[in-house]
Amino acid sequence: MEKPVALGADHGGFALKEAVRAHLDERGVPYVDYGTHSEASVDYPDMAVPPCEAVVRGECACALLFCGTGVGISMAANKLDGIRACCCSDAFSAKYTRLHNDANALCLGGRVVGPGLACELVDLFLDTPFEGGRHAGRVAKISALEQSCSLGAITEADKLSQIDAVLAGVQHGQTAGLLLCMTVLPCALMFVSYLLYIKKYRLDE
Ligand code: RB5
Repeated sequence: MEKPVALGADHGGFALKEAVRAHLDERGVPYVDYGTHSEASVDYPDMAVPPCEAVVRGECACALLFCGTGVGISMAANKLDGIRACCCSDAFSAKYTRLHNDANALCLGGRVVGPGLACELVDLFLDTPFEGGRHAGRVAKISALEQSCSLGAITEADKLSQIDAVLAGVQHGQTAGLLLCMTVLPCALMFVSYLLYIKKYRLDE
């Protein structure tokens, strides 16, 4: 059986989600609606998580997400490992983010696109397969960033830069020591010699 599509919206995207939901009904596309279910204010990061988790778990084929601009909910969605969310308001992007990026979440702005265009973008997104080929390696590199750019990796980088700083400090210390030997030490020796000379001179007198 065909996997359902996961729907998620905040209050800014609620009306558009409802329009797209009606369109999915007309097309006979199954979906799970994770809300919101009214115009009452909710936070878009909270609304991104349940539908995106359903996609990552493999329960839903992809997510259709809605907020005022589509931008905030796409930012939140892209924080989840395994989600490749694209905020679109044009047909070319909606098509090519499937062909080239294998996007699994389409984000639309309820205050940006009207219901007619939104439904066209949804159709393009749902009906366009991933092209694979040379794009598969690039998508794999996106997934690899989820590991290599994690907090742990940054901490390792920080450690390395701290080691560099210590080594630079040692080098500065060595340079300062060398300068001291080349300037202050000869002066001090000359001064001591001078004192001895004066002392000897006075004693002879
Ligand atoms: C809510 O007012 C609005 O900020 C939200 O829907 C979305 O546009 C954020 O990116």
